[in-house]
Amino acid sequence: MLSARSLFQEILDNDESFRLFCSIAAGGESQGGWENARIAALVPASERALAPRISRHGADEDKHGRIFDALMRKRGLQPVDVPADTDYTMLLERRGIGLSHEKLKSDHPLTVPDIVTYLAHSRVTEQRASEEMELLRRHFGDHPDLGRAVRMISRDEDNHLAYCHEELLRFAAAGHGRAIQRTLRECALAEIRVYRDVSLAVMSHMGRVLGWPRPKAALLAAGIRAVYVYERAVGWRRMVSLRMPERRDALGGPATTSPEFA
Ligand SMILES: [Fe+2]
Ligand SMILES: [Fe+2]
Repeated sequence: MLSARSLFQEILDNDESFRLFCSIAAGGESQGGWENARIAALVPASERALAPRISRHGADEDKHGRIFDALMRKRGLQPVDVPADTDYTMLLERRGIGLSHEKLKSDHPLTVPDIVTYLAHSRVTEQRASEEMELLRRHFGDHPDLGRAVRMISRDEDNHLAYCHEELLRFAAAGHGRAIQRTLRECALAEIRVYRDVSLAVMSHMGRVLGWPRPKAALLAAGIRAVYVYERAVGWRRMVSLRMPERRDALGGPATTSPEFA
């Protein structure tokens, strides 16, 4: 039967597909790490207090990148180039979502609206990360090789999401509510399309590596498209709501490391 668990198990069991999976994941994470480090460095003076949290956010993503890399190397595997059509962060940037790399590479301080854009973009993408990791944790949280890593990354992504909710609510209270709602909506609608396209691309690369028969590949592609139809109709709304998290200041304090990986 085709289930998320059996699919992932299959990807895990094959060296080629496992290193492709880890390379794609590590690439996205370290890209996120770089972006957050640049945002922390360019925070406007009025938002200085936020800088340590943005740095922590970046340090966590960097750590996730190192964890995926270590998982691969523990099996004696080398990373592979990430196919362009599976590059989630690059595809989002190309759609004008989040802060442009041009802006992040420059030395001009960001503005408060830029910080609001960063948080809205993160609120949407961290929701995705948190849900994906939750799925992995549910099925592989007890796995002897992956369990610890999966549980740690999952906890971090939940914290990132909580932090975005809390900070966006603070900016909303300070009068940025309309900009936040507009940006969240734009980000969510773009993200669900990019997520669909990247999922289709990842599955087609996996299908080639694992030699999936045509009907299996077609069924998977249909499933991914069905998820998009659902998200376009109603699912996107879950990505634009704001709720005060139970855990406050989730990114306060220093980054947690994992001696095993980091
Ligand atoms: Fe991450
Ligand atoms: Fe994250």
